[in-house]
Amino acid sequence: MVTRALFCFLYILLFCALSAKAGDVDLLISFKNRLPNPNMLSDWNHMRGVCQFRGVTCKNGHVSSLMIRGRPLKADFSSVSAYVLSLPNLETLTLHSTNLTGSISGSANCAVRLKELDISSNNLRGSVSDAASLAASCPSLQSLNLSHNSIGWPFYNSSPIHPQLKILDMSYNKIATDKDLQWLFSKIGLLQHLDLSNNYIQGNMPRLTNCTSLQQLDLSANQLFGTIPAGTFSGTLGASI
Ligand SMILES: *[C@@H]1O[C@H](CO)[C@@H](O)[C@H](O)[C@H]1NC(C)=O
Ligand SMILES: *[C@@H]1O[C@H](CO)[C@@H](O)[C@H](O)[C@H]1NC(C)=O
Ligand SMILES: *[C@@H]1O[C@H](CO)[C@@H](O)[C@H](O)[C@H]1NC(C)=O
Repeated sequence: MVTRALFCFLYILLFCALSAKAGDVDLLISFKNRLPNPNMLSDWNHMRGVCQFRGVTCKNGHVSSLMIRGRPLKADFSSVSAYVLSLPNLETLTLHSTNLTGSISGSANCAVRLKELDISSNNLRGSVSDAASLAASCPSLQSLNLSHNSIGWPFYNSSPIHPQLKILDMSYNKIATDKDLQWLFSKIGLLQHLDLSNNYIQGNMPRLTNCTSLQQLDLSANQLFGTIPAGTFSGTLGASI
């Protein structure tokens, strides 16, 4: 009886260990199979361990980082969100210049440990508040790089920027109105570095209230005018306007 119970217990342990590992592989293979051309990731296959997949780094046998740069995967962001962001031990994800398309709206099922997300130089669409929602759905996220995309839809939801987020780069997008800027400034949380340079922001420079953590603000190459209240850039804030 005791042996049998022990055997059952060991069996369950083994099953758990195997299925935990299978999780990472299955998620990445599912992502690959949803690419318009899965051959883009031909070395991601069941013949090798997931830690040997190109671009993957593991910690203790689990995928902790994925970095792909300059390959036209043409993935839709919904499949990045469904299969890559949910890798349970993921800490950093870089999909730079990989021709990602689609909208960043809709909450991501984000890994609890994800600290850095670089999806710069793609064709991603959405509003500044979608970017804030994305950050808010990743509980540990510290840095979000959306530079060189097409963010700038005029749509605002109520989500605040996650308080953990320190770096937000939305330079070289299509952010067009001072309303976007106002919205961002009111939600800024504990952000330290905000780059909105090289957008199309027209209008008045909004008041910077409640931005006590901000250390770097780049608004260069936009079309802002108006006066900046005295004392706005006091303290540790370094700004380019
Ligand atoms: C990927 O994007 C780059 C720059 O956005 C573009 O020049 C290139 O043609 C795209 N490649 C494919 C295969 O779509
Ligand atoms: C974001 O990515 C761009 C490349 O697309 C890079 O030039 C920039 O330095 C990155 N921003 C941060 C804050 O790392
Ligand atoms: C200032 O920020 C704090 C903390 O993020 C927040 O609780 C408070 O409501 C904000 N105040 C204003 C006026 O935005």
